[in-house]
Amino acid sequence: MFLSYSIRGSLLLALAAAWNTDVHNQIGFMAETFLDPYTTSVLEHILEPQYNRSIGRAAAWADGYAHTDEGRFSYQWHWIDSHDFPPYRCDLNYTRDCAKGGCVVSAIANQTQILKGCIDHVKSGSLTGGANLTCSYALKWISHFLGDIAQPLHASGRAAGGNFFKVTFGNVSTELHAVWDGYIPYAAANVTEPFSNHSIAPFFAGLVSRIRKDQFYEAPYMWLECSNPDTPIECATRWARESNKWTCDYVYSRVDNATDLAKDGYAVGAVPIVELQISKAALRLATWLNKLVRTDVYAPEEQIEL
Ligand SMILES: *[C@@H]1O[C@H](CO)[C@@H](O)[C@H](O)[C@H]1NC(C)=O
Ligand SMILES: *[C@@H]1O[C@H](CO)[C@@H](O)[C@H](O)[C@H]1NC(C)=O
Ligand SMILES: *[C@@H]1O[C@H](CO)[C@@H](O)[C@H](O)[C@H]1NC(C)=O
Ligand SMILES: *[C@@H]1O[C@H](CO)[C@@H](O)[C@H](O)[C@H]1NC(C)=O
Ligand SMILES: *[C@@H]1O[C@H](CO)[C@@H](O)[C@H](O)[C@H]1NC(C)=O
Ligand SMILES: *[C@@H]1O[C@H](CO)[C@@H](O)[C@H](O)[C@H]1NC(C)=O
Ligand SMILES: *[C@@H]1O[C@H](CO)[C@@H](O)[C@H](O)[C@H]1NC(C)=O
Ligand SMILES: *[C@@H]1O[C@H](CO)[C@@H](O)[C@H](O)[C@H]1NC(C)=O
Repeated sequence: MFLSYSIRGSLLLALAAAWNTDVHNQIGFMAETFLDPYTTSVLEHILEPQYNRSIGRAAAWADGYAHTDEGRFSYQWHWIDSHDFPPYRCDLNYTRDCAKGGCVVSAIANQTQILKGCIDHVKSGSLTGGANLTCSYALKWISHFLGDIAQPLHASGRAAGGNFFKVTFGNVSTELHAVWDGYIPYAAANVTEPFSNHSIAPFFAGLVSRIRKDQFYEAPYMWLECSNPDTPIECATRWARESNKWTCDYVYSRVDNATDLAKDGYAVGAVPIVELQISKAALRLATWLNKLVRTDVYAPEEQIEL
């Protein structure tokens, strides 16, 4: 978890940045399993060599970078603060809510546009070996932000994304944001150690298998209704609104700050939501990248085969 400063009208303290870094890695590893071989062969020229051609390994970079002096400008790109009040009113609105300096929706659009040019550089042979940092950063940001935007509390302004909402989880005093970033995924996977940053962990491989077998209460092809990188603001806004809606439908409507969320049923009820949101993030990321690379095969509204 990271602490830093954020300006929202006044100077506010400090936010945990995202799904825990290892969860970001895992979303990337899940997405890799849905990439076309051609997509993989193009993207591997974009990443710097230390990632060994893996967007999973690269997907956590953005959190560390946001906490460097050089990368501070990108800190607020990890979320969008809705001006609503869950659980009573959830109505994220891009025009109203995207802060000056950018938000996760505008950042997805911006980096998608940059990545398009980078893919052209690879296809024309002018980019290999991760030599263009603007391009490597664009791919790493996309791989990260499509994860963040699926985390309900990255699309909610209440209590600074739940960072100021104190709760107890498993006898530990923490904040609601951290519960959704890490505690619930770990509870869902029944692990006490962080997930691997090198390869897909069993829990996430299980989600991939459920996606392929259509074993979610909502069919995966429906997650891709908006997945055209030519309309990134529209699609990212829809994804953010879905996440934001969970803050009314569960995150704040079921939370009780006087009991232990690990024991009062809250975590159990949150597990299917986290599984769904993580799975959407991974499939959307892969679809986005496949469509960016294979402009010749994918008609804009065409669904990918699972
Ligand atoms: C890099 O990835 C390849 C597979 O793409 C794997 O065989 C190799 O062990 C990896 N290298 C490292 C250092 O992880
Ligand atoms: C979103 O906010 C803008 C600017 O405040 C406003 O003009 C627009 O009507 C809002 N859209 C919706 C759907 O409420
Ligand atoms: C887009 O991203 C680049 C960095 O890749 C940044 O310099 C630029 O300010 C961003 N533009 C917007 C509108 O956020
Ligand atoms: C790197 O890629 C960006 C985005 O397409 C481009 O603007 C820039 O000129 C490239 N840099 C070099 C050194 O080729
Ligand atoms: C939580 O705290 C209670 C009371 O302080 C204690 O009885 C219990 O063993 C603790 N549980 C865990 C899992 O640490
Ligand atoms: C969770 O893991 C523990 C220890 O590894 C094991 O004893 C327990 O049965 C597991 N629980 C579930 C629900 O899988
Ligand atoms: C990957 O995880 C290992 C073990 O937890 C850790 O030592 C290492 O620093 C991590 N690597 C990266 C790039 O985060
Ligand atoms: C629980 O939340 C209520 C209202 O949101 C607040 O007044 C109260 O102080 C909180 N209790 C604890 C123990 O944090």
